[in-house]
Amino acid sequence: MAGGHSTYTPSSGIGRWVDKRLPLPRLVYDSFVAYPVPRNLNYAYTFGGILSIMLVLQILTGVVLAMHYAASTELAFASVEKIMRDVNSGWLLRYLHANGASFFFIAVYIHIFRGLYYGSYKAPRELLWILGCIIYLLMMATAFMGYVLPWGQMSFWGATVITGFFTAIPLVGEWIQQLLLGGFAVDNPTLNRFYSLHYLLPFMIAGVVVLHVWALHVTGQTNPTGIEVKSKTDTVAFTPYATIKDGFAMVVFLAVFAYFVFYIPNFLGHPDNYTVANSLKTPAHIVPEWYFLPFYAILRAVTFNIGPIDSKLGGVLAMFGAIAVLFVVPWLDTSKVRSAVYRPWYKLFFWLFVINAIFLGWLGSRPAEGWYIPAMQLSSLYYFGFFIVIMPLLGLIETPRRLPNSITEAVLAKTKGSATVTPHGAAAAPEKRA
Ligand code: HEM
Repeated sequence: MAGGHSTYTPSSGIGRWVDKRLPLPRLVYDSFVAYPVPRNLNYAYTFGGILSIMLVLQILTGVVLAMHYAASTELAFASVEKIMRDVNSGWLLRYLHANGASFFFIAVYIHIFRGLYYGSYKAPRELLWILGCIIYLLMMATAFMGYVLPWGQMSFWGATVITGFFTAIPLVGEWIQQLLLGGFAVDNPTLNRFYSLHYLLPFMIAGVVVLHVWALHVTGQTNPTGIEVKSKTDTVAFTPYATIKDGFAMVVFLAVFAYFVFYIPNFLGHPDNYTVANSLKTPAHIVPEWYFLPFYAILRAVTFNIGPIDSKLGGVLAMFGAIAVLFVVPWLDTSKVRSAVYRPWYKLFFWLFVINAIFLGWLGSRPAEGWYIPAMQLSSLYYFGFFIVIMPLLGLIETPRRLPNSITEAVLAKTKGSATVTPHGAAAAPEKRA
C-alpha cells in the first residue's frame, strides 16, 4: 500500500480476535480510512467512487430483473412489458437499470477524460490505466448485449449490424460471427448466449475493478498538479476528507440520475425498442445507444478502400483502433510534465479533443450521407491525430509552465495570506486572523 505502515488498532476483544485470523477490517481501515490522499484532489477525482456505486446498482437491479425476465424470442419482449406493468416496482427497477447504464457511461467518460487531462496514465500508473481500458471494453460488451435482451426492433437490428462487422475480418470473420450468433442470424440461440454473458460480465468487471483499485493503492493517486506526494503535509486522510467529498459528489450525481429515472426515463432510449423485434422490417435508421455513437461515426467514416483493405474492413479496423489506441496512451505521451494545468498547448488540444468527441457522437446519430461523411472523416482524423501525432510531438516541443515545488506549495499559493510556505514546501501554521 502507498500508505505504508498500518496504524490500525482493534478496539475490542472481538476486533483483536478477528484481526489475528482474517485482518479484513485492517485492510478496510488502511485502504479507506487512514489511507493518505493528496490534499488538493478536486471533484474530477470523485468519479471513481461514483463508478463503484453505479456498478453495484447495475448488479443489484440486474439480478432482480433477471428473476422476472424470460430469455426466449417468444417471451422476452412480453416479459419486459410484464416487468413494467405487473411486477411490484418493476418499472422502477427497469428504468434504474436502463438509465443506470447511460449514467455509468457518463461517469466513465468523465473519468477517462480526467485521466487524459491530468496525465493519470503516466508512469508508474500504466497498468492502472490499462486495467481501466479493460473495464471499459467489458462495459461496452455488457451494454451491447444488455440492449439486445428486451428484444425490440433496435435490439434485433443493432445486434444484426454489430455482429455483421465481424464478417469483414478475413478468414475467421464468418466463423466469429456464427460463434456470436449461435447460428446464421440473430435468433433464440443469440438471445440465450447474450443473456448468459450479460449476467456474467458485470462480475468480471467487478473483479477487474478490484485489481484497478489495488493498483491505485500501490502507486497512490495523482492530483491536479501532477507532482507526486513528497511529504506528509501533501496528504490528508481518506476519511473524512475524501469520503465526504466523494459522498457529496455521489449525492449530486444520483440526484441528476433520479431526475432522469423519475421524470424523463425514456429520454436516452430509442422509441423503436418499444416495438417487438421483426426480422422482416428494417428500421429507417439503425442507431446504437448514445455512448457508442462516436465509434459508430468512425466506423462509417471509412468510405474508401485503403490498398488491399476494403472500406468495410477499414471501417471495422478504424473503430476497434479507436479503442485500442487508448491502451498505448502511456507510451504515446512523451511529455515530462504530467498535468495539463502546466501544459498550455496540450490543454488547448485536449479541449478540442473533448469537443471533437462530442461532435463525433452527434455525427454518429446522423445518416452517412451528404456533408456528414466528410465531417465524420475530418473528425475521425483529429481523434487519431490527437493520440498518434499531437501527444508524441507536443511532449517534445512544448514549453511547460513552471511547476510548484510541491503539492503543499501549490495549495497554499492559492490561499495566499492564510499560511506561509517554507523553501522545502512544508507549510507553517496559518496565522490567526483578528
Ligand atoms: C467500473 C469502472 C471503474 C471504476 C469502478 C473505477 C474506479 C476507480 C477509483 C475508485 C479510482 C480512484 C478515485 C478516482 O481517481 O476517481 C480510480 C482511479 C483511476 N482510474 Fe478508474 N475506475 C473505472 C474505470 C476506469 C477506466 C475505464 C479507466 C481508463 C480507461 C480508468 C482509469 C483510472 C486511472 C488512470 C486512475 C488513477 C487516477 C489518478 O490517480 O490520477 N478507470 N478508478
